[in-house]
Formats: sequence, C-alpha cells, structure tokens
Amino acid sequence: CGIVGYIGDKQATPILLEGLTKLEYRGYDSAGIAILNDGNINIKKAKGRLNVLKELVEKDNMVGTIGIGHTRWATHGEPSDTNSHPHLSQSGLIAVVHNGIIENYLPLKKWLLEEGYTFKSETDTEVVANLLEYYYNGDIVEAVKKVLDRIEGSYALGVLCKNNPDMIVAARKEAPLIVGIGNGENFIASDIPAILKHTRSVYFLDDHEIAIIKKDSVEFIDMFGRQVEKSLFEVKWDVEAAEKGGYEHFMIKEIHEQPSAIKDTLRGRIIDDSEIVLDDVKITKEDLEKIDKIFIVACGTAYHAGVVGKYVIENLARIPVEVDVASEFRYRNPLVNERTLTIVISQSGETADTIAALKEAKKKGSRVIAITNVVGSSVSREADDVLYTWAGPEIAVASTKAYTTQLIALYLVAMDLAIKRGTITKTKVMELCTELKKLPEKVQYLLDNKDVIQKFASEHYNAKDVFYIGRGLDYAVAMEGSLKLKEISYIHSEAYPAGELKHGTLALVEEGTLVIALATQDDLFEKMLSNIKEVKARGGFLVAFAKQGNLQLEGVVDKVIYIPETLKELTPVLTVVPLQLLAYYMAVEKGCDVDKPRNLAKSVTVE
Ligand code: G6P
Repeated sequence: CGIVGYIGDKQATPILLEGLTKLEYRGYDSAGIAILNDGNINIKKAKGRLNVLKELVEKDNMVGTIGIGHTRWATHGEPSDTNSHPHLSQSGLIAVVHNGIIENYLPLKKWLLEEGYTFKSETDTEVVANLLEYYYNGDIVEAVKKVLDRIEGSYALGVLCKNNPDMIVAARKEAPLIVGIGNGENFIASDIPAILKHTRSVYFLDDHEIAIIKKDSVEFIDMFGRQVEKSLFEVKWDVEAAEKGGYEHFMIKEIHEQPSAIKDTLRGRIIDDSEIVLDDVKITKEDLEKIDKIFIVACGTAYHAGVVGKYVIENLARIPVEVDVASEFRYRNPLVNERTLTIVISQSGETADTIAALKEAKKKGSRVIAITNVVGSSVSREADDVLYTWAGPEIAVASTKAYTTQLIALYLVAMDLAIKRGTITKTKVMELCTELKKLPEKVQYLLDNKDVIQKFASEHYNAKDVFYIGRGLDYAVAMEGSLKLKEISYIHSEAYPAGELKHGTLALVEEGTLVIALATQDDLFEKMLSNIKEVKARGGFLVAFAKQGNLQLEGVVDKVIYIPETLKELTPVLTVVPLQLLAYYMAVEKGCDVDKPRNLAKSVTVE
C-alpha cells in the first residue's frame, strides 16, 4: 500500500492524486482520499486503478488544503469500494489511512462491537479508526498514543481529525513512512517518489515514533510523549531511482526486501512457538482423516516452491505428495478425488494454467488450498482455503521474494497438517518455530555479504552453460537457481539431481564448464562430495554451497559459498538468496533488461 498526506495553503486534492500516481507501483487494487474542510471530512474512494478515483473526484470538486490519500494492495478484506481507504470512525470524527497489518484486530473489533461501535468494512484499518474515536478526549495526539499501545503488528498510519484542522498525525512501526518538509507546507508519504516534486528534504520516521505535522512545523515524539530529535535527509535520487528505493532494479530491491517479507508472512501465525494459526485455512483434524494424498500444482517459480513443499510435507506430515506443473496436471486426467487435498501456489493468483488446474481439482472433488500473494485474486476466490504470502507487490518479472515467502507458507502448512495428523513432536514444532523466526536475520547476513557473489559474477558472466546440481532439498533449490539465471541473463543452464548427472548430462562437462554444486544437507554430504569429485575430474569449474563450519570442500572445489546454519528443512530459504544474487549480477554484467526479460511476462493470464 502507499500513503500520502498534505497540509499547507494549496489545494490538497491534486497534490494527493499526483502523489498516489507515484505510489501505484506499491500496489493498486483501490485508492481513496480524505479532505478536511470547514469542519468536515470529505472522502472519495473506489476499487480499481487510480483513474476511477480521479473521475469521482472530478465530479465533486473536493476543496481543502489538508488531506490524506491511499493506494491499496489488499491485506484484510478483498478489494472493494468499502474496503478502500481512508476509513472513517463511526461518527465521522476521524479518518485513517494505513499500510501494514494489525495482527490483533479481531479481538479489538469484537471489543468495540460490544462497546456499541459498528463497522462498514472488513478491514483492520477501520478498527484503528473506531479505536481512535473511542480514546478521543479532545486531543487526537493523546488518542493516537493510546491506540498504539493497544495495537499489535505493523503499521504506517496517517490520521485526520475533524476537530484538529491544523494537523495530520502520523505513526509507524515496521512499515515505511517519511515526512517531507516544504515551505509553509508539509507532507507525509510511504515513499519518496510521492513527494519528490515538492521537496527533497525528508525525515524518516522510526519505529514507535509519532509525527505531528502542521503547516509550518513538524514535531516528533515517542509513545510516551517525549520529544525525539531527528536529522533531515536530502534526497539526491531522481524519480525513477526513488521508486526503486535507490536500487538499480526492482529485482535487486525485491531481493533485499526478503527479510521483511519473511517476517510479515510469519507474523501472527506462530503462537508461543507451539501453535500454528492460519486464519483462512480451516481444514480440521477430521477433514484430514479423509485425505490420503496431496497434490501441489503451480507454474514457474511457484512450482519450484512446491517441490520444496513436497519434501517438507512428506517429512513432517507423513502423507504422499505429488508436485505437478499446472499445464500438465490439467490435461492428464490426474488421479484426484474427494480423498485428495490440492495445494495451488501462485504469486499473482491469476495464472491461467493454475486457475484451470484448480478448477479441475475441484471438479474431481478435491478440497483446494491456495497460497497466493494477491488478496482477492482469482485463485483466492476459487479456492476453499487461502493462505496469503505477505511479500508485498512484486514487480520484477523474475520472482524472488514471492518464492521465499511461498516457502514460508508451505512450512506453516506442513506444520499445521503435521500437528493435526499427530505426526510431529512438540519439540520439533518448537525447533521449527524458533528457527523460522531467525531466518530474516540470516537472509540479511547473506545480503550483507553479496560482494563476493557480485565479484564472482563479474568474472564468469561470459559462461555459455551453467549446471546446478544438488540432492534432496538442494536439488529443489538448484531448479530455482537455474531458472533465475535463464530468465534474466539468457545463459543456458540446467538443474540436475547430482546422482543423475552421470547418466547423461555429464557428457556436456568439459574443461572450465561452470557447475554450481549445492551441498548443504548433512545426511547427503558424502554423496554430494563424490558427485563433486566426478565433475571436477572432467575439468568442471566448481562453485560449492556448503553449511557454515563445514570446511571439507576447501581445496576440493574452486570456490565455496557458506550458508548460515539452520534446520535442514529451512535451508532452501537461505541457499536461494546467493543464487538469486548470482543470476542478478550475471544479467547486469551482460547488460540485460533485468526487470523485463525478453519473451516473458510477470503474470501469464492466457494459456
Ligand atoms: C510467469 C512468471 C514467473 C512465475 C510464473 C507463475 O511465468 O514469469 O516468474 O513464476 O508466471 O506465476 P504465479 O503468479 O502463478 O506465481
């Protein structure tokens, strides 16, 4: 989602609309603005692209010099006019725009309903608006402080109050928010592009900070009301660079967003390291007793996530899993019936083959769980149960953060199924929960050490063929690493189960052929070592991925990349990161159009 706000002497509406246009890249299923004028808050909002909102606004000249706006990427509640922001409190006293997820909105909503409040939408944001009204006692800043004390989750909030026509109040926790400083006018925004036309002087709000923005002043306080001193930042980027957060491409920006995307996808779903809560996956223990087989169906990168899912679900939940690409599944009369559970995975939720496969599975009587990144997408509407990945909009055609969050979603599903089927011990659940929560910092560690990969890519981008080999989960990741390289660098590559190489493909290895060997699995390490030696003996140039602390490959291969330690099942989330970086830097070195590779589309909505 994207937020923008204006206070000054100019008309707010055109400034807000323009700001929202610049934020559309953050997601766009609906948009809205609220203008405060003459003691009234006037709101216009609509489902669809910004143009729909623009038409509405044109019909009703929205006069006023203070306002807030929002472009939405749905989280709670599907895209619709009523679920669009801004949200008004019950009496119309307060308007709120919000980016993020309020984890405890359901208990708060229940409590507010008991207190006599009513709700128009299904959103977590309307809960914030009514909670503000509940606590409002003549001072909106005090009300915001009290609300922040009660809400859990992530948020960037922009608040307007009818009785305080001279200020916007903003607050943040784990969602971006900046305050732009102008001359006799000030701004808030989720991101720099929204206000770059008006100012280059910005403050970055930190977690748990509140900003009180007036026409001629800005004040920052913490949750206890203490003043906070902040330093002003001068933006040097142009608009295009600003959209990419200063990165050269969306893909590398999205690679760097993985720690927070993983955190968001886990948020609120693990309770006390022992319980898994998946709101919209309502399958019960009794339902599962009737299931004897699982199908995972998807395309492209999502299919590769499914391959990891097979290993993990079979291991934890002890139930046979078959993985299939959607375009095959739909036409091969698959053995699916009411005893089958189908899991479809799709970032966009709009891939034609995946939708058709979903329908085919349902027609044959299977219950369908969808794992998708887009709320209200076709897949989410057709499926019986939905589990969202909270990766945020993914723009680069080559998928990165969607893949890692799909893995997280699959771990959660696997654990949920295993707990319900009684095939997992409490200790194992605890171990998995603890380690899942440590993944963001380990991914960050790999990102902080990306220079090694960049340097390697600068020396090897002329490779003609690259082979990725691995066993078990490493093979599943090898498939994704190879696809990334093909997609964006146009270098021919193949992924092979390491033990299978000698049955044919080894014939292609000659002096200097680049081979990436993934050897992160302890139980398969000795086997991998033999396969690595086989390739080395044929003259291959070998880069191996090993677990930190395992030094056995030093001197055997040409280069070793170390992956932080974690549980065996979770390694793919880490191993894939340097592989994404490798593909990215190889493509950059070759001068390819990284974000929009030739012949490919982000979402393939035709067969
Ligand atoms: C396209 C994209 C791939 C993506 C695949 C499935 O081919 O280029 O990156 O993995 O579709 O997309 P979905 O939205 O269903 O995950």
